Amino acid sequence: MKTVFITGANKSIGFETARQLLKEGYSIFLGSRDLKNGQEAVEKLKSEGLDNVEAIQIDISKDESVKSARIEIGKKTDVIDVLINNAGITGGFPQSALEATSQQFLDVFETNVIGQVRVTQSFIDLVKKSNEPRIVMVSSSQGSLTLADDPNNIYYHHKGAVYQPSKSALNMYSLVLAYELRETPVKVNVVDPGFTKTDFNGHRGTGTVEAAAARIAKYAMIANDGPTGKFISEEYNPETGECPW
Ligand SMILES: NC(=O)c1ccc[n+]([C@@H]2O[C@H](COP(=O)([O-])OP(=O)(O)OC[C@H]3O[C@@H](n4cnc5c(N)ncnc54)[C@H](OP(=O)(O)O)[C@@H]3O)[C@@H](O)[C@H]2O)c1
Repeated sequence: MKTVFITGANKSIGFETARQLLKEGYSIFLGSRDLKNGQEAVEKLKSEGLDNVEAIQIDISKDESVKSARIEIGKKTDVIDVLINNAGITGGFPQSALEATSQQFLDVFETNVIGQVRVTQSFIDLVKKSNEPRIVMVSSSQGSLTLADDPNNIYYHHKGAVYQPSKSALNMYSLVLAYELRETPVKVNVVDPGFTKTDFNGHRGTGTVEAAAARIAKYAMIANDGPTGKFISEEYNPETGECPW
């Protein structure tokens, strides 16, 4: 049975991704910043007959928490087949380029960029032990420089001076990561779940968590001849799924 670790999986898109992968027969370590929320999420999945799931406390913005999660998971498995870096924050809107504070930038980058780096670096040894290793970086088409500059983009006027650069930085980190792992079986892809109705945006999103999670799960399960180093947005391009960087 393949093993998955998902951060920020106690609710919303991460939770639904855990549910879909459980249904596909994967075993899940369900990352949650608050262990109690994680355990409640696990109980909900178990009540649906999805048993191969365990809550792991992890706050990706804190070195010590990520180290503890790595130690805990290391006691339970030698291999992580799929790492899904899903946890993320917006930092609150509006975010003006002229008025956003340095603290807003520090908080959002601590989670959306450095948090993903911490988790990736801490868990890569377990990922490399998989026969078919996959890393999915959950980003956003809001991180696309090309789309941010395109007046025809439906989200052209949805600007966020803190959140958008954090996802652009995550995208570039992911490209470098994919490059460094290019001679290994590890596939690294960046997936935009699409504008989804969750707490993240006060439920203003237009898509469902089911559709968002399916987009992530697809790249968690891609075959050995699948892509690596791609930026995928099926919302932006339903046919090819490719999103401009
Ligand atoms: N919703 C959208 O429209 C949309 C669009 C594009 C991309 N995305 C991306 O999709 C991902 C999931 O979004 P969502 O809509 O599911 O958001 P959400 O409803 O706000 O859930 C975010 C999850 O991340 C967790 N989290 C936040 N900071 C964390 C930290 N420091 N350490 C560990 N966990 C942390 C949250 O934990 P708590 O419950 O403890 O807060 C929660 O489990 C994010 O990366 C987001 O940028 C979302």
